Parts: sequence; structure tokens; C-alpha cells
Amino acid sequence: MIKLKNAREISKIRDSCRLLAETCKELVGLVEVGITPLELDQFTRDHIEKRGGKPAFLGYQGYPASLCVSVNHVVIHGIPDKRRLKEGDIISLDLGIDLDGYISDAACTVPVGRISQSARMLLARTEECLYRGIEQAKVGNRIKDISAAVYGHARENDLGVVKQFCGHGVGFSLHEDPQIPNYVGPGPNPRLQSGMVLAIEPMINLGGDDVEVLDDGWTVETADHSLSAHFEHTVALFEDRTEILTTLS
Ligand code: MF3
Ligand code: CO
Repeated sequence: MIKLKNAREISKIRDSCRLLAETCKELVGLVEVGITPLELDQFTRDHIEKRGGKPAFLGYQGYPASLCVSVNHVVIHGIPDKRRLKEGDIISLDLGIDLDGYISDAACTVPVGRISQSARMLLARTEECLYRGIEQAKVGNRIKDISAAVYGHARENDLGVVKQFCGHGVGFSLHEDPQIPNYVGPGPNPRLQSGMVLAIEPMINLGGDDVEVLDDGWTVETADHSLSAHFEHTVALFEDRTEILTTLS
């Protein structure tokens, strides 16, 4: 069941998203050669809690951290550890916040120091996939318009598209209906309506589409160990416009 949000509820979700965007900006500023994912996780938790929020991922289905840090061929759900980041790594930072019961979710992938040309290309194209998807996230369209836009842009650039994980409704809880796949499959295709709040999140690979979940039950890697990138925004749909909530403006 898709839970539509009213103006008051969207304004609360917007507050949660703003705190997330601020946290994310600070985090990106901390990324440098030698820092550890665990240090980034600790910063995230402190920053959110000092401002009265709760990390939405911590304890979610047993997830042990406040942040997902997915390095290089790790696609999503990387558990922060003490391995120092190296020059040339790319890392996806994914976090969610519960502020006053309203949930936000966003991710971005950033370079550690100087990165290869192909890694730079992957980051740029994946972020473009996100914005192609957001362009289609408007009242009157359907979920598969978002999926097709993301998928088309990835395929035009000969990139792999992760199919086992997808975007989702968000706001009252972390994962709500509808699912938002990054490819056009056989699933449901609801019409987009005013009051929907959606987390759109392309996961795009330099190599093939396939991914594997490690024995820790969380870490998702590309099957061919090619580099992977992930960008995510929470957006709110209104009759006449779509607002990206997880940006600072
Ligand atoms: N942004 C991710 C998602 O939408 C992160 C979930 S991590 C978890 O699924 F630990 F909270 F599950
Ligand atoms: Co998400």
C-alpha cells in the first residue's frame, strides 16, 4: 500500500532530509586518503544525534552502523570497518535519518584523492542516471517511467544496472511501497500521485549487472568485481512540481 503524505507530513520529512543533506555535506568534506569508514560512521552518528535525530539504518533489520560505506566494487550496504581509504578509491556514502519519526534516505559516491578516468566517468554517469530518473518522477507518469529513464541512460553508456535492489517509498518508514526498480521489469507500475515521497537510487556498474551478497548478510558486491556507484535522493511529488528534499539550497 502506498502511503501518501500531506503538506504537514512532507514538511516534517523535509526537515529530516535537510539534516541528512547537511550531514552528507560534512561527511564528504571528511573523505580523504587515510580516513577509515568507521570514523565516518562515528561522525555520522554524533552529528545526527547532536541535532536530535536518530540514524535510521542503525539496528534496521540488525544493520550494525549508522552509515553504509561501499568501497570500489562494493555496490551498497558496506559495513564500516577500520581499513583506511586509499588514493584512487571511490566510496558510496549512504545514510538515513529518523527526525521526530520522519525518515529520509540519500546516498552519493565520491572520490578518494585522484581517481581513474573510468571511475570519474562512472560517477558522472550514475549521478546523471539519478537525475534522469527524477525528471520522470512527476504526477501523471508511472513508476516505470523512472525505471526506463535510469536504465536507458546506463545502457546508452554501456554500464551495468543492478536489478536485485531498488528504490522505494520513504517518509514514515525506511522502506515503503512502491518499489522503484532501475530497469523495466514485470512488476507493478503505479501512477505517480501528489503526496508520494520516493527514494530513487540507481546502482550502476562499470561491468556486468550481477551482484552477490557476502556471508555477513549485508555487503553487496559486483559479481565481476567491477567498480560500482550509487546515488540517491528523497523527492516529494506535488501536483505541479517535484521537490528534491535531500539537497541544500
Ligand atoms: N539506502 C539504503 C536502502 O534504501 C540503505 C539501507 S541500509 C539498512 O535500502 F541498513 F538500513 F538496511
Ligand atoms: Co534507499
